[in-house]
Amino acid sequence: MREESVARLKRRVSEMPVQHRKIRVLFVCLGNICRSPTAEGVFRQLVKEAGLANTIEVDSAGTGDYHIGERPDPRACWAASRRGYDLTPLRARQVTRRDFEQFDYVLAMDEQNLRALKQLAPEEQAHKLKMLTDFCSNGECTVPDPYAGGPQGFEFVLDLVEDAAQGLLRQIGTRTEV
Ligand code: 4NP
Repeated sequence: MREESVARLKRRVSEMPVQHRKIRVLFVCLGNICRSPTAEGVFRQLVKEAGLANTIEVDSAGTGDYHIGERPDPRACWAASRRGYDLTPLRARQVTRRDFEQFDYVLAMDEQNLRALKQLAPEEQAHKLKMLTDFCSNGECTVPDPYAGGPQGFEFVLDLVEDAAQGLLRQIGTRTEV
């Protein structure tokens, strides 16, 4: 297919009403070993429990390249497993410009991630970029980086992410006939 036709097709798919296709959600932090894999694991589980695993796709990535190919941090895996989430199959990857074409929601954990993503996003896809905390019920405005702190930081990430995941699923439900 000619390049021009491919571009036209891609544009048409991205303009299709969301109820006619899959919804794709990408969670993004810095390293993709603590916060965003936690968000991926929690949201994936919620989507599965809602019977929407065939409708909503979930992934995560990091703005940095330090941990590409690594498993989530053992502290994140441990904290998540105590609440019934399995992060162990996940592997870190770096976010790309192309992710903005493929995903409907690109959700940053903090302001630093948001700034990096704004620089990466094609202008016509920038509306997909939001903070995960936009979906929180309690006015929180960031998911703090737990990497350099103690276990309570990982618990707090889980608290925020579990709350935001509920709000996100509700918001997707209002945009679609899922
Ligand atoms: P994350 O946490 O962004 O939630 O995955 C971090 C992981 C690694 C580093 C920083 C934050 N690091 O500097 O290596």
